[in-house]
Amino acid sequence: MADLTHSVHGPRDGPVVLLVHGFPFDRTMWRFQVGPLTKAGYRVVAPDLAGFGHTDGSFKTMEEAALDLLQLLGRLRVDRFIAVGFSMGGYVALALAALAKQRLQGLVLVDTRAEPDSPEGKTKREATISQVQSTGVRPLAMAMLANQLTEATRTGERLLAEEVRTAMLRQSKAGVLGALAAMRDRPDRRDLLPTLACPVLCLVGEQDKVTPPESAKAMAAAAASGEVHVVAGAAHLSPMERPDEVNAHLLAWLGKHAPATPQS
Ligand code: MLT
Repeated sequence: MADLTHSVHGPRDGPVVLLVHGFPFDRTMWRFQVGPLTKAGYRVVAPDLAGFGHTDGSFKTMEEAALDLLQLLGRLRVDRFIAVGFSMGGYVALALAALAKQRLQGLVLVDTRAEPDSPEGKTKREATISQVQSTGVRPLAMAMLANQLTEATRTGERLLAEEVRTAMLRQSKAGVLGALAAMRDRPDRRDLLPTLACPVLCLVGEQDKVTPPESAKAMAAAAASGEVHVVAGAAHLSPMERPDEVNAHLLAWLGKHAPATPQS
């Protein structure tokens, strides 16, 4: 098991919001969410998954990553929490829900999906694994940028595009290879959603080609208590591309299901 590097923000007694980053990113991808969440009274826990950011090692299954998170929450003495997962972080959050559904106060699935990789998707993962093994993370990161942000943002907000590119380039080869295998082998979670007693919020960029709006709508419809919002002007990386809209939806939903006391 990995000892996850993490940061904790906000009031000690606030409802705990666990932010699980996507691929190939680290906890810095949540930098636009941390301030507004803590100001609203939430205790924010943001880890780097194994092999990403400042955490060494790698994980080979989504369960392994979820168990690392449960170990971290144990160390922080957190019982109930709201899990927020972006893309691969959503796959991990769903694994976490399967392992500890009674501890979930809410589940937020951002630009992600419950269905597994298709046979073609698995073949593509294999090719990506071979490519990363022989040429490292750089070609993958460069190829992935186009899907993270809309064309308008890539050309109009160069600093943000550069930040996103740099974040992908600094991730470790071992972490990336482990996560690719874990994504390839992840199970179908569609049957899990109706069994969750907690509310589920699905957010998705309207131009998300990696995990399209249809997947988010299907997840929200499958959940016993589901809600979905499509974020205009965003591609895949909506928490960084359209943080104000994402935060507004997240805070409104949290206010309904896990109210906190705003900090002065
Ligand atoms: C992610 O954004 O976390 C991954 O690219 C998702 C995926 O490849 O399935």
